[in-house]
Amino acid sequence: MRIGVLTAGGDCPGLNAVIRAVIRCASADDVDVLGIKNGWRGLVENDHLELTRASVLGILPRGGTILGTSRLNPLKDPQLMGRLKENLRVLRLDGLIVVGGEGSLSVARDLWSDHQVQLVGIPKTIDNDIRGTDFTFGFDTAVSIVTDAIDRLHSTAESHHRVMVVEVMGRHTGWIAAYGGIAGGADIVLVPEHPFRITKVCELLSNRKKDGRAFSIIVVAEDAHPHPDEDFLTEEQNSSIYRHDRLGGIGEVLADKIERCTDIQTRVTKLGYVQRGGSPTAFDRILATRFGIKAYEMVREGNWGQMVAIHGNRIMSVPLADAVGELKRLDDEIYRVAEVFFG
Ligand code: F6P
Repeated sequence: MRIGVLTAGGDCPGLNAVIRAVIRCASADDVDVLGIKNGWRGLVENDHLELTRASVLGILPRGGTILGTSRLNPLKDPQLMGRLKENLRVLRLDGLIVVGGEGSLSVARDLWSDHQVQLVGIPKTIDNDIRGTDFTFGFDTAVSIVTDAIDRLHSTAESHHRVMVVEVMGRHTGWIAAYGGIAGGADIVLVPEHPFRITKVCELLSNRKKDGRAFSIIVVAEDAHPHPDEDFLTEEQNSSIYRHDRLGGIGEVLADKIERCTDIQTRVTKLGYVQRGGSPTAFDRILATRFGIKAYEMVREGNWGQMVAIHGNRIMSVPLADAVGELKRLDDEIYRVAEVFFG
């Protein structure tokens, strides 16, 4: 038996733990594993390498992916699809494990349903926005990084009596912002699911100052929007912050607005790609390992078109068709927990 594994979309901590788990299971069964390089691009360009136990030595704690990744979507171009199918035929893979986020797993879903490519999916993303699973690996690491940053920002904010705006990733959902904000003790958390009123934000900060709490921490998700009734963004700001392929910049504009409406010195930290880099937490290493083992078992069983998932600490498989296509928005209960500590 010969199987393939690829990692596609944005990287995240834990990808190497998945690859290692697949290889360890496969080598125990004498199953050959081909590592496809750079996501779907590797299948289009026939770029791959044999993976053995030796290839995965020491990779468990390493961030990123030893296979490389890309955001190429072969379904967008029939020529790419033609090459991908031809390469798959030549490679004679009995099954493919696709480790991806919402975008790459949607491609996997269609490759299975429309082109009968025998595959199983594993959900990864720091954003935790995949509907079919309680958690994706990578998320816990990102939240730890945000928490650590907020802890550090607290002391400098307090010393200078400043407002600190921390902009975090999350694409169209507020999971990282809410979890990071709760863990770091943020005074306000702004997420895409709840458009914010700038007057309320400024009022809350001014009240804190009046009450003798001269510093504040605001966590803002990269896709958080002002409420339409109080939209203070220019058209130009709107189009540069909320770009389809890249979000970022709301923190700067927000800080500027806050400084003007409260008269409190305000600074911004955009955490950016540090949230995605480096070594995975123990939780992510374990989750990624469990996902890798389950995905391998699913391949052995021919359980195609499915995705590995965790629900209530049980690892299971769910149909890709149900797991992707619509984002998993921030849970209201989690937002309400963050809200208890506003102000
Ligand atoms: O999907 C993960 C993510 O890190 C988002 O949080 C962020 O908006 C995006 O990727 C950045 O993507 P890119 O690597 O294409 O700049």
